[in-house]
Amino acid sequence: TWTMTSVIDASVEAIRAQVGKERVICGLSGGVDSAVAAALVHKAIGEQLTCVFVDTGLLRAGEADQVEATFRGQFDVDLVHVKAADRFLGALDDIADPERKRKIIGETFIRVFEEAAAELGDVPFLVQGTLYPDIIESGTKDAARIKSHHNVGGLPEDMQFELVEPLRNLFKDEVRAVGEELGLPEEIVWRQPFPGPGLAVRIVGTITPERVEILRAADAIVTEEVRRAGLYRELWQSFAVLPVVRTVGVQGDERTYAHPVVIRAVTSDDAMTADWARLPYDLLERLSSRIINEVPGVNRVALDITSKPPGTIEWE
Ligand code: XMP
Repeated sequence: TWTMTSVIDASVEAIRAQVGKERVICGLSGGVDSAVAAALVHKAIGEQLTCVFVDTGLLRAGEADQVEATFRGQFDVDLVHVKAADRFLGALDDIADPERKRKIIGETFIRVFEEAAAELGDVPFLVQGTLYPDIIESGTKDAARIKSHHNVGGLPEDMQFELVEPLRNLFKDEVRAVGEELGLPEEIVWRQPFPGPGLAVRIVGTITPERVEILRAADAIVTEEVRRAGLYRELWQSFAVLPVVRTVGVQGDERTYAHPVVIRAVTSDDAMTADWARLPYDLLERLSSRIINEVPGVNRVALDITSKPPGTIEWE
């Protein structure tokens, strides 16, 4: 559309004016925001851009392959793939507090970017897919702060980069429109939002590789069944949460003592407010039986029926 074309043109001009002839790196997460930010910056400055995809070990199933296919395959972007699962999980060892998780993850991301940048030589700029609602919700005053989104309040103070944030005036629907206009594939443009700290803020408690594995498997089932029910696009987000408690169950005459998984599904326009989704009972039934039968370590499925406010979308 005309509006999106002019948003893109203005943004391309602003990016060129900000970075000049310098080199720029951009973190890719597999999500819509970083993908659109990267595509915009690539349009503006082409080969001056290197994208860094960091596998934190906290991603959704299949995310790495999709990023490779799109950015290396389709856009021919210079892409570095950093496998950093051990490092992130190590830094998060024993950490249960949500804000500390975000801070550690934000900081570890920056350290990984700094190292990747050092290998490229002198890279003064870092692109981030920060949106308008991220800035609002992270708040500038303590009273207004709900969560320090890892890419706003979670950045280390001694960070060396100057930020390039081409989406900071946009809402999600506008970001998607820009992404479509730039030719990003529909699987990326219409991917449901996923928080930068990833599965870490959906494990309510401390994080272990086993817990991440349980949650990733449950999450993949939720996504698959929601897609099959034709509801994926209609829902703002639909995912699994793993509270680190255990409950008693019985399976095949045996007592079980295992984790519950909570289904969280919401409708929303911009994530500032959200309504819990009235999922069809047959979908809920499939989710319950598949998750319990297919994911070892889970013996119960519950449904979150809290809107935002008073809940937030994520549990942490
Ligand atoms: P909440 O949970 O605050 O989330 O209702 C609003 C939207 O933001 C996403 N979210 C995050 N995104 N870093 C991000 O990049 C974060 O730390 C973070 N925390 C929440 C959440 O998935 C929802 O779309």
